Amino acid sequence: MKILVTGGAGFIGSHTVIKLIESGHDVFIVDNLCNANEKVLGRIEQLTGVAPAFAKVDIRDREGLTAVCEKAAADGGFDACIHFAGLKAVGESVAKPWEYYENNIGGTLTLLDVLRKNGCKNIIFSSSATVYGDPEVIPITEECPKGHCTNPYGQTKSMLEEIMMDMQKADPEWNIVLLRYFNPIGAHPSGLIGEDPNGIPNNLMPYITQVAVGKLAELGVFGDDYDTPDGTGVRDYIHVEDLADGHVKALQAIEAGCGLAIYNLGTGTGYSVLDVVKAFEKANGVRIPYSIKPRRAGDIAVCYSDPAKAEAELGWKAQFGIEDMCRDAWNWQSKNPDGYGE
Ligand code: NAD
Ligand code: WQD
Repeated sequence: MKILVTGGAGFIGSHTVIKLIESGHDVFIVDNLCNANEKVLGRIEQLTGVAPAFAKVDIRDREGLTAVCEKAAADGGFDACIHFAGLKAVGESVAKPWEYYENNIGGTLTLLDVLRKNGCKNIIFSSSATVYGDPEVIPITEECPKGHCTNPYGQTKSMLEEIMMDMQKADPEWNIVLLRYFNPIGAHPSGLIGEDPNGIPNNLMPYITQVAVGKLAELGVFGDDYDTPDGTGVRDYIHVEDLADGHVKALQAIEAGCGLAIYNLGTGTGYSVLDVVKAFEKANGVRIPYSIKPRRAGDIAVCYSDPAKAEAELGWKAQFGIEDMCRDAWNWQSKNPDGYGE
């Protein structure tokens, strides 16, 4: 298939682009590079032997997106879009709500309109477990009610899901797959591509790898008084390679004319912060000094998926375990201490 990948230069997008190329798909990336480095394109070529088509286009730029679609129309147009582009820092979204709503919601509305006007009504959207809020039932199935999102970032995901559901209801020609990711970590096993956060990382694994590489002194563990086995927060970490595979499988659902479909992408297993620290130390033989800090505002105690629906309907199941994730995250960080650099 010919696939438009928005945000394809980012962390999850770049790993997915590699899987798409390896599966024989024809990829066109649009990314405004606000949170990505163009060097990733060379790394994708190095790994796949294919230089992905790329345009530095903002998804809020209607003319730019239209030009990309019109160019693709010369050989049949896009069969589907995989939509990763968006801002994703939870804390920043609290400080800059307008910027988050404008970029994530404004950008997606423009994208959806340009797609439909250019004859493409197939889309896979990067949603998030954050839409469940503080879940009432664990493990979380897709049937669980969505919850209250404590931050504008989460609200954008939840609202965009609603918008796309309404559009699909009104126009059943749309095939829309909402993928609710749990906690993606890890990196490509080559160590050539990985997560490259700006500044001090907000998320656990990049923080750990930066402690391991000596850029940060110690990990702060946000709370050890949750109602969990060791008191620290429990999450469903998923290898980014497995997540990338989930998108390739979701394309098959699109091809089969799925209408609207929602899937959790997680492993179904929860690990605490201290479990992850121990797994990292075991996998890599590197010590991670840490100290217990107060709880982080907005955090929940436990969040992990029931991924059975994706297995039953997409034939997708996570293959990698927590030590694989830790090994590959460290392989990337140790080979690229400054990420992609300047
Ligand atoms: P990322 O920041 O690495 O990738 C997002 C990409 O989108 C970046 O390359 C950025 O430059 C680009 N982008 C942002 N706004 C854009 C715009 N207006 N126009 C064009 N490009 C734009 O993030 P990621 O971790 O790869 O996440 C990808 C998607 O998955 C995001 O939508 C994110 O919200 C969602 N998601 C991520 C996680 C996670 O923990 N990483 C979890 C759940 C959902
Ligand atoms: C994991 C655990 C922290 C950092 C976020 C978003 C969510 C989704 C995934 C996009 C928690 C603890 C963390 C640190 C710590 N993103 N922690 N010290 O909060 O589960 O989810 O990323 O959709 O929307 O909210 O992930 O990696 O930040 O935290 O102790 O320095 O690690 O308290 O228990 P989270 P995380």
